[in-house]
Amino acid sequence: MKVDVLLGLQWGDEGKGKIVDYLSPNYDIIARFQGGPNAGHTLVINGEKTVLHIIPSGIFREDVQNVIGNGVVIDPTILLKEIDGLKAKGLSLNNLLIAKKAHLILPTHRYLDAASENAKGKEKIGSTLKGIGPTYMDKTGRNGLRVGDILTPNFKEKYQALKDKHLALLQIYPNIDFDLEGEEKAFLASIERMKSLQMVDGPYFINQALKKGKRILAEGAQGSMLDIDYGTYPYVTSSNTVTAGVCTGLGVAPKNIGKVIGISKAYCTRVGSGTFPSELFDKNAEELQRVGHEFGATTGRPRRCGWIDIPQLKYAIMINGVDEICLTKIDVMNEFETFEAVDSYELDGQQTTQIPFEVNDSIKVNTKSFKGWNKDIPSRNHNDLPAEAANYINYLEQELETPINLISVGPGREEIIIK
Ligand code: GDP
Ligand code: IMO
Ligand code: MG
Repeated sequence: MKVDVLLGLQWGDEGKGKIVDYLSPNYDIIARFQGGPNAGHTLVINGEKTVLHIIPSGIFREDVQNVIGNGVVIDPTILLKEIDGLKAKGLSLNNLLIAKKAHLILPTHRYLDAASENAKGKEKIGSTLKGIGPTYMDKTGRNGLRVGDILTPNFKEKYQALKDKHLALLQIYPNIDFDLEGEEKAFLASIERMKSLQMVDGPYFINQALKKGKRILAEGAQGSMLDIDYGTYPYVTSSNTVTAGVCTGLGVAPKNIGKVIGISKAYCTRVGSGTFPSELFDKNAEELQRVGHEFGATTGRPRRCGWIDIPQLKYAIMINGVDEICLTKIDVMNEFETFEAVDSYELDGQQTTQIPFEVNDSIKVNTKSFKGWNKDIPSRNHNDLPAEAANYINYLEQELETPINLISVGPGREEIIIK
């Protein structure tokens, strides 16, 4: 058996959570491999909305095991709050497992995140301020605390030592408001509660499951353009969001990576700072934001909107080895008379379809226009797609040289067209 992968091809919020939930009956295990509570994955089941931040999106299927993998960074307070929220919805959470090597987000990581962003002023990344950057910095700097550490007798001392280091580091930044005492109290209480959760040795768990023939889906967070190495640096997150991140984040050998499913909206959005070449600033942007309810699932910030970007998607498909695409939110374009797709960039007077070293505002875009279908999509039968919608999907498949096998036509679990 091999590990299938589902990840975002743009700047996040492509609808990964919905699609993982939809696909999860085909799998025995769903495993998050990177990121942390900066993610917000929305599931709409029987009209009821749930936003997941750390827990994998297969959690509503009681017979599917959901693993928070080594590559994830965990905020104990957010995790416990999420667990309590799901229990209140009637879930047992007996199907939740946590890898011991996953790193812990401390209150002072969030404090550092906020102080660093504040000091950057106009240059800020637009972080979700969940402590992601500082936690991964401590991981690679070999200072971090891991989930398994909470079971060791000297955890409190280890915590105190790292906190003291952070407090010294905070001196380099202008002072900001942060309720460290309150946050620490909640953190330590959550750590106590975490001790009773099911912990696993991540790489053994995953590889033994593979050997037993279990079907595993790795669930990405963020999107390919937010990848620390391949995204629009420095306006990125601090983990590898691409397929390669599955190997390091779950302990899976490259040869055991199976099908890679890339998720893309039928248009494009971004939240936070940094250029996004196909961004719109006109009434089309307002329309995409209004109809698509484009407001962040984690921070509530408005998402910036634009057209789909072919050079950007080609790049993401190349880096990830995408086998098939799931196109989401095509219903958001139901009322457009016409719409566009960015098919190339102009850079220093030269046309290109490659992503330049630096993605900044000097990039101009060329677009191709499409006639809209200007009506609701009538059914979940592929043959009933309006001709203009089918034409757009054909164009994307040709340009991206990748099949679009799933088309999501609404936020609900069942609102999907299978080709
Ligand atoms: P994720 O981070 O990739 O899981 O995506 P988010 O949950 O942050 O954002 C996607 C938003 O679009 C959520 O509000 C979903 O409920 C919603 N959504 C997902 N698929 C569709 C779709 O096909 N059509 C519409 N209209 N909404 C969708
Ligand atoms: P999901 O999994 C969209 C963005 C932030 C910011 C940058 C760095 O829901 O798709 P960080 O908190 O990691 O320091 O923020 O990355 N960002 C996301 N944007 N969806 C997400 O996750 C994101 N997670 C982080 O807005 O620009
Ligand atoms: Mg999201």
